[in-house]
Amino acid sequence: DKGNHRHFMAKEIHEQPEVVGHTLAHYLDMANDRVRLPALPFDIASLKHVAMSACGTAFYAGLIGKYWMERFARVPVEIDIASEFRYREAPLAPGGLAVFVSQSGETADTLASLRYAAQHGQHVLGIVNVPTSTIARESHAIMPTLAGPEIGVASTKAFTCQLGVLACLAVAVGRARGTLSEADEQRLVGALVAAPGLMAEALKLEPKIEVLARTLAKDKDVLYLGRGTSYPLALEGALKLKEISYIHAEGYAAGELKHGPIALIDETMPVIVIAPHDRVFEKTASNMQEVAARGGRIILFTDARGAEEAGVKTEATFVLPDMPATITPFAYAVLVQLLAYHTAVVMGTDVDQPRNLAKSVTVE
Ligand code: F6R
Repeated sequence: DKGNHRHFMAKEIHEQPEVVGHTLAHYLDMANDRVRLPALPFDIASLKHVAMSACGTAFYAGLIGKYWMERFARVPVEIDIASEFRYREAPLAPGGLAVFVSQSGETADTLASLRYAAQHGQHVLGIVNVPTSTIARESHAIMPTLAGPEIGVASTKAFTCQLGVLACLAVAVGRARGTLSEADEQRLVGALVAAPGLMAEALKLEPKIEVLARTLAKDKDVLYLGRGTSYPLALEGALKLKEISYIHAEGYAAGELKHGPIALIDETMPVIVIAPHDRVFEKTASNMQEVAARGGRIILFTDARGAEEAGVKTEATFVLPDMPATITPFAYAVLVQLLAYHTAVVMGTDVDQPRNLAKSVTVE
């Protein structure tokens, strides 16, 4: 049932404040600002190494999870696309943690990676949305996302719920390893509790995104840029746009711009910059200035301070409230989803069932 929405994807985008709130509530003790994980059959305090693996959108969630885990818990995290991991025969020291992120829990390459990790003595944790799935069954422990059934082929609410689980896991590991103090934990949990409200703020920008979508629908190529945890979001924004609107899009780490893609910039090229005013904002701002100097059309997703300090003329600027850096991926994800959705609607594509794609990829 789509409710009063035209597509399941729209419904699922709008459900996010609720389902992310629900997922976070499952892993947080909100009364005491603490993380509360289910009992796990391995000791997270003694982890020395984490290997993560997933496909598509779930891989991008994992990439953001890597930034959090390394920052909060100071544990090295390696992340691979599952189709690469399963064949590259990575050496895995026994006793490491291997994390597999999957909405469906049936993705063939992710499952094969899981089996490889289990055979090589890893503790296997599945972050899945379907608790009866094969990946859920074969994992040694699962941390479910509570997104509810996701019908639209393009993943939206499962992605932000995966972020919720990964953030809670990173804080829990940091706390167990002593890299986060109790005060750090309280501050981070306080930030996570605010995420659903900020996603609701992002949804309020929908009318303005709809206007931008009418312009973007005329473009052939779109570049997305981001730095830090906004880099995986740039990848996700580009993936969402190409899969449902069929417009060619690429996501790049902002710092990679001058290593190649800058050659693409001219007056016709839309460049979507995801840049909350965080510790790397100034660096991204200088990349924006490089785009502006070549006449590129900048579409900026930022906050009030970022809008003020960007130092460039933009085609459109979308301003979200200030928020703690840890939760920017939740709110900014909503903007890239809405942009892809409305562009596809303008193009008249089959939004919920894009051509050539399947919801669950059970063959290689
Ligand atoms: C993109 C999308 C795909 C999936 C990928 C993994 O919108 O839906 O990229 O994220 O096929 O699927 P799961 O999460 O089911 O393993």
